[in-house]
Amino acid sequence: AKEPVRVLVTGAAGQIGYALVPMIARGVMLGTDQPVILHMLDIPPAAEALNGVKMELVDAAFPLLKGVVATTDAVEACTGVNIAVMVGGFPRKEGMERKDVMSKNVSIYKAQASALEQHAAPNCKVLVVANPANTNALILKEFAPSIPAKNITCLTRLDHNRALGQISEKLNVQVSDVKNVIIWGNHSSSQYPDVNHATVNTAAGEKPVRELVKDDAWLNGEFITTVQQRGAAIIKARKLSSALSAASSACDHIRDWVLGTPEGTWVSMGVYSDGSYNVPAGLIYSFPVTCRNGEWTIVQGTDAILYPMSFLSPIAFCF
Ligand code: NAI
Repeated sequence: AKEPVRVLVTGAAGQIGYALVPMIARGVMLGTDQPVILHMLDIPPAAEALNGVKMELVDAAFPLLKGVVATTDAVEACTGVNIAVMVGGFPRKEGMERKDVMSKNVSIYKAQASALEQHAAPNCKVLVVANPANTNALILKEFAPSIPAKNITCLTRLDHNRALGQISEKLNVQVSDVKNVIIWGNHSSSQYPDVNHATVNTAAGEKPVRELVKDDAWLNGEFITTVQQRGAAIIKARKLSSALSAASSACDHIRDWVLGTPEGTWVSMGVYSDGSYNVPAGLIYSFPVTCRNGEWTIVQGTDAILYPMSFLSPIAFCF
């Protein structure tokens, strides 16, 4: 039998946490043959709720779940973890300036970065979900210099999946037949969802999305704004943020990173820039990537049409 993998979820008592932990315990993230031990961190005001989640995990009797650590202590939470999904944080609220959110997240991510750096398993893979996701990942990277930069990523897979979903609805095709959209930039409304290399698997072979969707005005307009503003649309409809799809996409991100992307397919991940596409080196930026043997590689040569630099949000330059 395989050794259990320890997976940390911060903010585990929150909405995304509640959707995410059962997916991990069912094998959606790492495979249905991979036992897991869940580490859940939240803050003291949420300790009771966190314990309630732990009780439900016990009650669900997940065969793959070999243990649960539920704690408000960052060191205990980070000890020995192989994968860290950072969902806890301080999102921007109405009336708050960006710099106020930044200073709160700097202190949170500074502390959690040191706990991970000192106590996580070697080669721990980190996925930051909490907004501002790219910036929080950058803060974590700055304060955990001994964690390899390639191990610190942020979630733009939800935006990627949203783009696949919009194309599949427009063309009335299965979403699993659509691939190779790209999300460039930040997980925010400044991102650029790009379909210029996306294809659909049809009875007549693989066809470019641009050829099948004859409506260029839609592709260049409504499609882009729908993907960029989908998070706000979900909040308006549900009065809560998009927890189910965020949790599912976080599982997709880690699964593809650890187990590899299918041949001929790329996915979008927020990763540290090596200068590809003239994105300044060291920023956390969403690129098309392929994954193999637990490592991501930025796909080159997809920039014939656009200029991702213009979509960089100034907040990414805070370091
Ligand atoms: P939520 O408010 O329901 O849950 C957040 C949880 O984090 C709460 O339980 C809170 O107590 C906890 N928390 C706060 N500070 C913490 C700290 N220092 N350490 C540990 N836990 C802490 O929020 P929800 O809906 O679960 O969203 C979580 C984050 O994910 C938000 O920042 C949201 O903006 C972001 N998000 C990102 C998406 C992406 O695609 N990257 C998509 C959807 C949401």
